[in-house]
Amino acid sequence: MKTFLNSKEIEYFNGEVLGIETSCDETSCAIVLGKHVFSNIISSQTELHKKWGGIVPEAAARRHVETFLPVLEECLLASGKQLEDIKGIGVTNRPGLVGALSVGVTAGKSLSLALGVPIIGVHHLQAHIMSAWMENEVPFPHVCLLVSGGHTELVLVKQPESFEKIGGTIDDAAGEAFDKAARALGLGFPGGPAIQKAGATGDSAKYNLPRGLADPNTNFSFAGLKTALMLLIEKEGRDLDIASASACFEETVSSVLTERTVYACEKSNAKAITLVGGVAANLRLRTKLKESCEQKGFGFFVPSFVLCTDNGAMIAHSASRSLGLGLRDSFKLETLATASI
Ligand code: KG4
Ligand code: ZN
Repeated sequence: MKTFLNSKEIEYFNGEVLGIETSCDETSCAIVLGKHVFSNIISSQTELHKKWGGIVPEAAARRHVETFLPVLEECLLASGKQLEDIKGIGVTNRPGLVGALSVGVTAGKSLSLALGVPIIGVHHLQAHIMSAWMENEVPFPHVCLLVSGGHTELVLVKQPESFEKIGGTIDDAAGEAFDKAARALGLGFPGGPAIQKAGATGDSAKYNLPRGLADPNTNFSFAGLKTALMLLIEKEGRDLDIASASACFEETVSSVLTERTVYACEKSNAKAITLVGGVAANLRLRTKLKESCEQKGFGFFVPSFVLCTDNGAMIAHSASRSLGLGLRDSFKLETLATASI
């Protein structure tokens, strides 16, 4: 196996790849050539699910069906490409909401058949991890903190195709904790951006919230933090300072994530950290991890905001690597609700 020193040296498929993402509540199509993104169109269902305070799987799948073709059309238009220019297709097939995934996978198979080009199923979490390599020269090995709505994982990335899970949450994912906390505070959905906004003017040291498991650790637990916040809301009643409670919650999650990621990097003798997934959009977390990496002399890489939350470009990028290695799927490609890294 070829040894890569950094992500700049990675080889890709020699042709335009269409990436399709429908694993949760974003319908997205993108066209890339290796790391170059021609277009990346994302249609979010946030407004649809807001009224239920969380994602309703059946509604998500139906909305993907309605949105897919308009998103594809816009993606082609924005890229300046024709359908005939597409030489390969990558589609998220795992993990995710099975009904939602099926929409993208069915569309991908149909396009693959119609255009006579290969298709490859993409692991959503691996695509998030690889998103950090698209805009930066990231050295191997590095530690990736993957924080999204459904996942919180610490992964040692030894080489482009060599992922080892070295830690993660034992209960709620970080994004899920943000969403539940925001709901309890009456801030709406999705919780991450709402808490960030509400907490901007708060005092992040006003309330004492628990950090979950004892340090040093490479695992996380956010269930106790959520319960503590609920007890605080009940105890303070109308006197609760919502801005400060939001800031304290955000501060606790960000510092636990930062300290344990840095510890994991030291423990595994890696020299760089990447931060990916929807929660990577959080400014407090980005700043904290960046500052800690600077102090320790570690490299720090985080994708631009549009590549943090779910998007087709990261799927196309991951597919471009797999297709470049000669990997192909058949029309028997299945969807999976769960899939380990
Ligand atoms: O990766 P993603 O778009 O979808 C999944 O694969 O889950 O992540 C969505 C999660 C949600 O829980 C949302 O609240 C969180 O990312 N999120 C944030 C921020 N923006 C999105 N969490 C904290 N701060 C943010 N600014
Ligand atoms: Zn995601």
